[in-house]
Amino acid sequence: MAQNDDNLLKKIAGHAKEYGFIFPSSEIYDGLGAAYDYGQNGSELKNNIKEYWWKAMVQMNENIVGIDASIFMHPTTWKASGHVDAFNDPLIDNKDSKKRYRADVLIEDYVAKLEAKINKEVAKGEKRFGDSFDKEQFLATNPNVLRNKTKIDEINNRLGKGLEEGDLGDIKALIEELGIADPVSGSKNWTDVRQFNLMFSTELGSVADGASKIYLRPETAQGIFVNFLNVQKTGRMKIPFGIAQIGKAFRNEIIARQFIFRMREFEQMEMQFFVKPGEEMQWYETWKEKRIAWHKALGLGEVNYRFHDHINLAHYANAAADIQFNFPMGFKELEGIHSRTDFDLKAHEEYSGKKLQFFDPAENKSYVPYVVETSIGLDRMFLAVLSSSYTEETLEDGSERTVMKIPAALAPYKVAILPLLRKDGLPEKAREILSDLQFDFNCQYDEKDAIGKRYRRQDAIGTPYCITVDHQTLEDNTVTIRDRDDLGQIRVRIDELHDQLTKTTSLNNLLRKL
Ligand code: GAP
Repeated sequence: MAQNDDNLLKKIAGHAKEYGFIFPSSEIYDGLGAAYDYGQNGSELKNNIKEYWWKAMVQMNENIVGIDASIFMHPTTWKASGHVDAFNDPLIDNKDSKKRYRADVLIEDYVAKLEAKINKEVAKGEKRFGDSFDKEQFLATNPNVLRNKTKIDEINNRLGKGLEEGDLGDIKALIEELGIADPVSGSKNWTDVRQFNLMFSTELGSVADGASKIYLRPETAQGIFVNFLNVQKTGRMKIPFGIAQIGKAFRNEIIARQFIFRMREFEQMEMQFFVKPGEEMQWYETWKEKRIAWHKALGLGEVNYRFHDHINLAHYANAAADIQFNFPMGFKELEGIHSRTDFDLKAHEEYSGKKLQFFDPAENKSYVPYVVETSIGLDRMFLAVLSSSYTEETLEDGSERTVMKIPAALAPYKVAILPLLRKDGLPEKAREILSDLQFDFNCQYDEKDAIGKRYRRQDAIGTPYCITVDHQTLEDNTVTIRDRDDLGQIRVRIDELHDQLTKTTSLNNLLRKL
């Protein structure tokens, strides 16, 4: 993983814009908070991530099927799901700066500072004791570390309790007791904490017709729940089975920051796995293992992942864990695995008056299945790939390069085809190769500028291989292939290119590891 500094995220956002991965939304009008557009390279990378997820979840599991539900849903859906009443963030305003914050995030940021103090102590210990440093023992015995750890636990417990019980007064008291100041103005003059619903609403139909209030879905999951019976019956699905979906979700986040980490319009890849009541914890563990394996197969670095069990469970869950990723701003939630019980299906039964049950022939009875959900933010996954791939290097000849070491199977382009010169029949030969490879691989063709400059352009967008067509090609039908990461160049016959690229860039390489 790349360095862990504040500027890194800014650098990555700058690089993403300069090289056509991500642009601020409607930038000519100065952009719109927390909305982004994926550019020509970004949309390729995003599609490849989607394909990796879809194939791993749907194609590779005979008992999982995929759907594509609409964003607009009957408004009662959100009453039943609990989102109208309980999908809130605790919000606090600073009376002096007039800035608005999420109260829980202010407290979490305070906790992050205590964690940073612990890390600093560890770094000091490592420096002082060198190879003989025993980190575990240090963490278990150092008085400063222990004091901060106790404080962190106390704060987390109190915050968890406050959120769970809706005791907003105590959350404000905690902010005051910890002496948390407005990060912008330094003022400690806070309003009370209030609940703020995160759903965007709009109107369906014209006012004259008697418009009704509807919501932009805040999660894709409910489109799956309301289709449970449709899919089960038409697909003749037997428990346990899953329904997967990729689609947009919308949340009116109070603070939307950290580039594409927290957006108001984002995309989710969710799968609801319907199981027999009583078997949910076993499936919960299974899906935790399967999902972490999916991440690790990408090779972004095993140390960059960790599980984080939820202390504050959402209104629908009896167990929940996050897969956190080591983003430039530290370990943060990338994916959630939730045991959602029968909360959603039961609630939809109650509100719709329709039976949402499975008849189990083995048991000769019907029941409402329990659900284990896996839910990953596509944009966060994109950021994980982008930030772990971003590398600045000084080469042997002293020159510098910025290279995106994106896993080959996800890279926007698999190969660039470059005639060494723009004459002597080299471009024609290069285009011949292109017209053959482009059926199976997303290729770039580039004949402008010196070859070194063209290599750098491909490095910057993460193209794993560059094929150079030179004069020898015309004589013996061989080309050189340059490897993006180790810069090695080998000579290969043109008729071997297809196999070679399939071997090194195919998504199957990842899927076979699962
Ligand atoms: N259906 C369950 C659900 O929506 P969640 O933890 O609220 O659970 C799941 O969201 C995932 O969606 C998160 O792990 C995160 O990756 C992504 N996500 C949530 N809010 C987001 C936001 N504002 N911007 C980008 N991604 C977000």
